[in-house]
Amino acid sequence: MHRAGGLWRRRRRPGNGAALGTGPGTGPGAEADPGLVRASSPEVERRLRGLASVRRDFLKPGEAAELLRELEPVLGRRPYQFDHWDGAICGYRETERGRWGGAARAVLGRVAAAAFPPGRPPLPLVHVLDLHPRGHVRPHVDSVKFCGCTIAGVSLLSPSVMRLVSCRAPGQWLELLLEPGSLYVLRGAARYDFTHEILRDEESFFGGCRVPRGRRLALICRNAPHDTTPEPVGDSSAFIGGTETELSPPQPPNKQ
Ligand code: OGA
Ligand code: MN
Repeated sequence: MHRAGGLWRRRRRPGNGAALGTGPGTGPGAEADPGLVRASSPEVERRLRGLASVRRDFLKPGEAAELLRELEPVLGRRPYQFDHWDGAICGYRETERGRWGGAARAVLGRVAAAAFPPGRPPLPLVHVLDLHPRGHVRPHVDSVKFCGCTIAGVSLLSPSVMRLVSCRAPGQWLELLLEPGSLYVLRGAARYDFTHEILRDEESFFGGCRVPRGRRLALICRNAPHDTTPEPVGDSSAFIGGTETELSPPQPPNKQ
């Protein structure tokens, strides 16, 4: 099983209103750029402040090129897939990587320091997702069986829009503009109580601004679930913000 495929999805359509995010967050969001965040309301923006954030220019000059130099030979060998087994992703190729060159190690060290809480470091394998210009990631919540409280992604090549939609109230949404070289972080409620997706080219707008989608690469770091001992179904104590059962309306079973 590819860990990267351990997803399940809820389809949601966001509402219409929009408000620019304001104010600095705390913790990993402290250096986030509020201009890269739009929310359906000030309440949603406040609720997710510091929990869903983007940091522009996280990569230093030359680092993107180094990462691409390392990844292209690995990714280029694989064909893009347009029929993901569970429909979560369309038009993609991916790998998981644990051994990195020097530039990548420096980047990943900074991701670990910037995004992950003390004692909850990223897993050693980094998920590399290569989206075709016509590819997109449909709304889903990463599996709580394989992924802990924090998801952090470095974006390369094309800009894109990540949309988060509340699992309980589909009219509540937040959008992140992911520019190449930026770092996004989803934590706590943003990771557990909202679906996330990467918009397809035709829908790729940030407010009134068109964000044309080309090929996009992401290095995605996740930490381990807090308690890896089996929990009885419906026991919410091991999860921040709820359980699979609470958060998931009737839906196909997710990949184990
Ligand atoms: C995923 C995912 C987002 C991204 O693969 O689970 O949500 O940044 N990817 O590509
Ligand atoms: Mn995901």
